[in-house]
Amino acid sequence: MKYIELNEIDSTNAYLSEKLLSGEITEPTTVFTHSQNKGKGMGQNIWVSDNDKNALFSIALFTEIKTEEIFKVSLATSMAIYEFLKLKGITTKIKWPNDIYYDGKKLGGILIENKLDGNMVKASVIGVGLNLNQEKFPKWLPNPISLKNITGHDYDAKEFITGISEMVEKKLNEIKDVPFADLRLDYLLNLYCFGKIMMWKIQGIKDEISGSIVDVKPSGKIVVQAVSGQLCECDIKEIKLIDDF
Ligand code: BTN
Repeated sequence: MKYIELNEIDSTNAYLSEKLLSGEITEPTTVFTHSQNKGKGMGQNIWVSDNDKNALFSIALFTEIKTEEIFKVSLATSMAIYEFLKLKGITTKIKWPNDIYYDGKKLGGILIENKLDGNMVKASVIGVGLNLNQEKFPKWLPNPISLKNITGHDYDAKEFITGISEMVEKKLNEIKDVPFADLRLDYLLNLYCFGKIMMWKIQGIKDEISGSIVDVKPSGKIVVQAVSGQLCECDIKEIKLIDDF
């Protein structure tokens, strides 16, 4: 893994995607920064972080995964972060599709941008924001938490960035050719609210339903089973967990 350190940048994801597109990045590379002034989150969200407090980085990997199994990138990343934090004594949950949760609060987020070619994912830019040493967050953020909030200790961002980058690369290589059916249970068992009856708002269904997550598909779609028995397969835009935040 090659590392590029930037003092300040708009977004490590935007920076790395651009370099990948222009052909400047030809080997697995992690870009990290001390200050990100236009951090991108999932959907229309932004990612905010105080300078020099948290891990802000993006990993470019030459994925070579079939697009129908695109969720393997996400699964490998969230599982690698879960395992890295476990080694540090912190047991987290993954909130589908790929938030890192501790005690019902958001410790980290992942933003994956894939470069496709036909039916293959050729490369992925995997952006990770992990709250390490920041103790106070803007009021408008729904439910943030940092490792410092949890343990009272300070953490070395570089150690997290290199450790997680290596583990993500290794994990993706390990699972690339493993059938998705053999990977899903490990992921599901680490999922926030897995098997618990929760309230959901699902696109196309008028009323909120109560049901639980029962499966995840290679595409990344989640399967929720309503208490009525009905199965709903949804992508991120089609389902919302109610009462979460
Ligand atoms: C989310 O939970 O919405 C995903 C957040 C991802 C944030 C990280 S910070 C480093 C990298 N660069 C970005 O612009 N975003 C990701």
